[in-house]
Amino acid sequence: MHFLPTLSALLCIAVYAVICNATHYHQQRPLLSEAVCFSLSHALSPASAVYYPGDPLYDKGVYHYAISSTQRSKCVVEVGNANDVGKTLIILGRRRTPFAIKSGGHAMNPGFSSTPDVHISLYRLSEVKYDPISRIAEVGAGLIWDDVFAALEPYGVGVLGARVTGIGVGGFILGGGYSWHTNQYGLACDSVVAFQLVQPNGRIIDVTKQSDPELFFGLKGGFNNFGIVTKFTLKTYPQGEVWGGSIYNLEDTLPAVQAATVAFQEKVTDPKAELIMTYNYVPSMDQIVVTQLMFYDAPTPPSGIFDALMDIPAIQSDVATRSFHSFIKILPANTTIGGRAVYAGFPVMSLTRTLSEIMVNESKFWGRALADKTQVSLSYDIEMFLPSIYSHTSDKSAFPPRRDIPFQPFTMAYTWNSSEFDADFHTAAVASSDYIVKAAIAEGQTELLDAPSYPNYAIAGTPLEKMYGENLLVLRALKARVDPDDVMGLAGGWKF
Ligand SMILES: Cc1cc2nc3c(=O)[nH]c(=O)nc-3n(C[C@H](O)[C@H](O)[C@H](O)COP(=O)(O)OP(=O)(O)OC[C@H]3O[C@@H](n4cnc5c(N)ncnc54)[C@H](O)[C@@H]3O)c2cc1C
Ligand SMILES: *[C@@H]1O[C@H](CO)[C@@H](O)[C@H](O)[C@H]1NC(C)=O
Ligand SMILES: *[C@@H]1O[C@H](CO)[C@@H](O)[C@H](O)[C@H]1NC(C)=O
Ligand SMILES: *[C@@H]1O[C@H](CO)[C@@H](O)[C@H](O)[C@H]1NC(C)=O
Repeated sequence: MHFLPTLSALLCIAVYAVICNATHYHQQRPLLSEAVCFSLSHALSPASAVYYPGDPLYDKGVYHYAISSTQRSKCVVEVGNANDVGKTLIILGRRRTPFAIKSGGHAMNPGFSSTPDVHISLYRLSEVKYDPISRIAEVGAGLIWDDVFAALEPYGVGVLGARVTGIGVGGFILGGGYSWHTNQYGLACDSVVAFQLVQPNGRIIDVTKQSDPELFFGLKGGFNNFGIVTKFTLKTYPQGEVWGGSIYNLEDTLPAVQAATVAFQEKVTDPKAELIMTYNYVPSMDQIVVTQLMFYDAPTPPSGIFDALMDIPAIQSDVATRSFHSFIKILPANTTIGGRAVYAGFPVMSLTRTLSEIMVNESKFWGRALADKTQVSLSYDIEMFLPSIYSHTSDKSAFPPRRDIPFQPFTMAYTWNSSEFDADFHTAAVASSDYIVKAAIAEGQTELLDAPSYPNYAIAGTPLEKMYGENLLVLRALKARVDPDDVMGLAGGWKF
């Protein structure tokens, strides 16, 4: 049964290849994805490869951080260079074959970098080149940040990358990118000098502020709407040893931790310091375990920044002076790997005592409400930044749509392990994040009425206006110019 459609599809290839070469049909008859996999395996250079179910490299290709973001595609295409990316897009576009583009596979929304059809994996685009004269780095779009940091470390430089292990270069930058250096230098997308873009028509172009200001703007937050980015040229920054790590506290010290965290938010203005506090509801204990991730961009922080937090008795602590790369490696990010998961990001102006209490209550309330639904963990992330983070550039970007509201990108993450409860967790995450934002507005944070949601954290179903605001009109026009046949509409993600 299973072989019949495949066989007839293969016949179609033979017949239509003749017709198309003769008449240059722009759009060809749709083919079964199996047949498109077959024709890609013949069209691409030896730099690329196509893998099928059963091959370990197929599993690596479709892998995601959250299992709920993984789908079994017909094949995985590991593209080896920009030229092959171009050929792939032309074939997929002509056949109207749904496809996925995956860099590090950390998308939390189902279908954003997965598909039942043709899965493109960027792993082979893994080169890092550093030019000590211009002090810029060229970084392949299929790398994870860990490897970029490791490659640049010998030169004493770093780039604005992700804050924990395993995250892809591609989705992170194309969505904005909050890093451990954002207080000092801004968003990761602000640090881009050039994008190497394969357009939906297969053409390879370098997009800079000079070459195409509108497209340069659009790629900074616009993900895969305009094609596939194969390489990023990035500004680098001096990077020596850093101070940082993680600390865990139980509920007995929660009031002290909350007070010290709110004080940190109010008083610390040193841009080298960053702090993330997370309330984790642990079902087996029916209590909250607090994680604090601390960072200072020098071997020792000046006194008065982290002391109050460090003085609170902790159940576990791993804070030290270390290389930046090893700092990223030791942070806890893998505890929920492989579960079903959802993120729901929401903007907050600043952490107040009231808001801190509300988030504690939310994690307990929903933790208990969802306890019987194979819940693995619930966490609420308070990501504190300085109000100046959006003012490091005067260049505009697709995200954030406005830079005059200094919102912070808080988020929450639920992890569970049975697909039967997907809808329950999604609904709860939307309700809880809305509740917190409404409470913050009621408390006087009225800027939140106009503050955008961060597209890399926003939960599926978030209206595009909420993330891109007034930029949306421009982005839609740009999309029509760059991709008139809507080839990129065949791939998942936020779609203009
Ligand atoms: C554990 C964890 C920690 C995180 N920490 C941070 C953090 O510190 N700061 C932060 O800002 N965000 C963070 N995020 C969010 C993260 O930035 C997004 O999930 C991001 O999209 C992941 O990028 P990726 O390449 O790994 O994802 P993927 O799933 O591979 O891709 C995400 C989206 O981008 C598209 N895409 C990827 N590469 C390309 C490309 N080269 N060309 C065109 N389109 C492309 C995909 O098609 C998909 O729609 C975190 C997420 C997780 C799960
Ligand atoms: C996290 O998981 C990845 C993939 O399984 C692994 O390579 C990495 O070493 C893990 N990191 C930590 C800190 O456990
Ligand atoms: C705790 O959170 C729930 C759910 O949002 C809410 O209904 C309840 O009123 C909150 N309780 C307190 C004391 O804030
Ligand atoms: C979910 O996780 C719990 C606890 O880790 C485990 O007992 C249970 O078997 C898991 N269920 C599934 C469907 O994997």
